[in-house]
Amino acid sequence: MPALRERVRGLLPAARADLEALVRIPGVSSWPDAAAALDESAAVVADLLRGAGMREVEVLRARCADGSPGAPAVLARRPAPAGAPTVLLYAHHDVQPPGPAAAWTSPAFEPAERDGRLYGRGTADDKAGVMAHVTALRALLPAWGPQEGVGVVVLVEGEEESGSPSLPDLLATHGDRLAADVVVVADSDNWSVDRPSLTTSLRGLLELEVGVRTLDHPLHSGLYGGLVPDATTALTVLLARLWDDEGDLAVEGLVRGEAADLPRTEEELRADAGVLEGVALVGRGSLLARTWSRPSATVVATDATPMADASNTLAASARAKLSVRLAPGQDVDEAERLVTAHLETTTPFGAHLEVRRLGSGRPFDGASAGDAAVLAAADWALTTAWDGATVAHQGMGGSIPVVAELLDVLPGATVLVTGVEDPDTRAHGVDESLSLRVLEGACTAEALLLARLAGQA
Ligand code: BES
Ligand code: MN
Ligand code: MN
Repeated sequence: MPALRERVRGLLPAARADLEALVRIPGVSSWPDAAAALDESAAVVADLLRGAGMREVEVLRARCADGSPGAPAVLARRPAPAGAPTVLLYAHHDVQPPGPAAAWTSPAFEPAERDGRLYGRGTADDKAGVMAHVTALRALLPAWGPQEGVGVVVLVEGEEESGSPSLPDLLATHGDRLAADVVVVADSDNWSVDRPSLTTSLRGLLELEVGVRTLDHPLHSGLYGGLVPDATTALTVLLARLWDDEGDLAVEGLVRGEAADLPRTEEELRADAGVLEGVALVGRGSLLARTWSRPSATVVATDATPMADASNTLAASARAKLSVRLAPGQDVDEAERLVTAHLETTTPFGAHLEVRRLGSGRPFDGASAGDAAVLAAADWALTTAWDGATVAHQGMGGSIPVVAELLDVLPGATVLVTGVEDPDTRAHGVDESLSLRVLEGACTAEALLLARLAGQA
């Protein structure tokens, strides 16, 4: 195995260069005019997989539920030699919007290295995940004859950050070609730069639009303020009633779990998150359970009168986008009923309430699920790639709805959720970055894992 580790090390400069080229393509799947960039990025990913030695590579275009075209996904396949398992490698090539350009230290779509980290939108989430797959295949495929190695399926989605609207159609149409015994989802976090994680659970997600109306038209706030309720205030009161005084979600009946007690102190968590001095953490239960196994709600956007348009009026309507994270084991429809019922019973002033589901994704509960030999192989590969560090088996608060969707079509598969992020990555935020140490670890671990599953390590 030292030889394989060396081979991966030799492939890192190319991985880095190809990653930079991918980061330069602004494939923001939620932008209305993203089609050209997503086409380009899918084509680049397809070329990378062909160059790595995958023969069967194609760009798939499935349809969303409303009939509109989904973003291009890349599917590549290598048939399994007789008796060998098939491994499905998943990542996504789309990214989140960069947010305010002026806030970035260096431009979001121009990769730049500082202190062992590569900065730019998608450097980690999830273009490094794509490169981990490509690099592992580059290290192994040239040495494998047709009857050697494992079967490989690579699925690189182009709309994960938009809730994968055409994934159901893709799975219905091409599901049989995704058949695999092991699934590697390289899209999660690590305990630290020096300690890899295997993600054993993920939260689900329920995105709701919450609209409130109190008036037929805006009114002068002097003439009517104090008598007539305005929609912005009604929405503010309604949203505030989602939490109790400790900042714990007040919605009753949602699944709330405990989390394994791994050593992370409040000081470390505060530092990782950049919480300001004097600001309290919210919620109840162990620190890690609050993000791994308990529900939460965040107001991620509001439509209310912008400051520049303020005209001393009572607003007639206002709305917010609520992002509700769901604990592993939570049914999404049940959660929607419970949150909606809570909103209906706490709406102030008899305001007219409208709640609409914008999107959702199921949680993943994979603690100790799967083939023991495969899980042991993953542990060995990650430990070896990180020079003997113990793998953290941990839940994550983020959501990868694809995992549950894939398990529907591959019910017997063992899912390994790995990742290229670390607590400093700031995925989706300003100054997103990838640790180059983690990139090396992720590429090495995946090559080692595939070699072991092929019986070669
Ligand atoms: N890679 C993230 C999810 C993630 C990050 C899971 C770190 C665990 C650890 C993924 O790209 C993501 O951002 N998912 C979205 C959900 C999606 C439906 C928009 C999320 O969690 O907000
Ligand atoms: Mn991701
Ligand atoms: Mn993401």
